[in-house]
Amino acid sequence: MSSVVGDSITVVSLGAGIGAQIDGINLREPVSALSKAQIMSAWMLHKVLRFRGQKGMSTQQLVDFSRLFGELDRAPTPANKTGKPYLADFPTVTAISNIVVDGQPIGGLGAYEAEWHTDMSYNDHTPSASILYAIEIPPSGGDTWFCDMYAAYAQLPAELKARIAPLKCVHDASRNSAGMLRKGWKEVTDPRETIGAQHPLVRTHPITKRKALFLGRRLNACIPGLSLEESESLLNTLWSHAVRPESTWVQQWKVGDVLVWDNRCSMHRRDAFDASTRRLMHRTQVAGDRPY
Ligand code: OGA
Ligand code: MN
Repeated sequence: MSSVVGDSITVVSLGAGIGAQIDGINLREPVSALSKAQIMSAWMLHKVLRFRGQKGMSTQQLVDFSRLFGELDRAPTPANKTGKPYLADFPTVTAISNIVVDGQPIGGLGAYEAEWHTDMSYNDHTPSASILYAIEIPPSGGDTWFCDMYAAYAQLPAELKARIAPLKCVHDASRNSAGMLRKGWKEVTDPRETIGAQHPLVRTHPITKRKALFLGRRLNACIPGLSLEESESLLNTLWSHAVRPESTWVQQWKVGDVLVWDNRCSMHRRDAFDASTRRLMHRTQVAGDRPY
């Protein structure tokens, strides 16, 4: 039994209120109940966890580790020509990569920038966690940024909190986080016609019970019940507030890093990188509930 694996784990905060590194655990082996409890409480406190040095983790080991956080969601439909999943044998794992083999990309997002977003928030039930494992990393670029959506909510002026309390937002399902149109989707030309789930702008985290601002992606977002102009202006205010640099933390990847983030209280974005270099990550997403 590996019941003592991870019993000496340490947690070190990495940023201004978001991001922590967990050391002293090998994720390629079963995680003890004690370590799991420590990981969960660190996750609730820090919103994003980084585990370094996990090189050589198999796809099955990534799935097994991810299952600690709950049932896995199926991977999102890729915005590629075929619409076929990147990992045929692992329906809950997706690849994020710019690598092309025999003319076919082996993962999503290319080498592009991915704008600020919440993973798969265009669904009615949205993932609680996303887990990203670095297999190949370019020499520079491709950093991933996180912002704290509890802080974004807490630091809103009282009148803005009151104004957004009853409001919902439509989360566009037509494009991926690099802005590419998904197979079979029509381009949105008027945000009032955006197709995607409607979620409250303020959500309550089901475990911590704390309130967080909940935004999916800026492009084609719309607040029903407001005029287009009011919706655009309120969204611009909320977005620029949420992603202000002082409440962000940036992950600079090393091969073997595993990152776990909480989509209920953070957003993320990724820098572009040189397309002639290689980057390959595998990602899982843990099924969550309907935001309330
Ligand atoms: C993701 C994502 C960013 C990155 O996997 O959801 O946004 O760094 N990835 O590749
Ligand atoms: Mn993402």
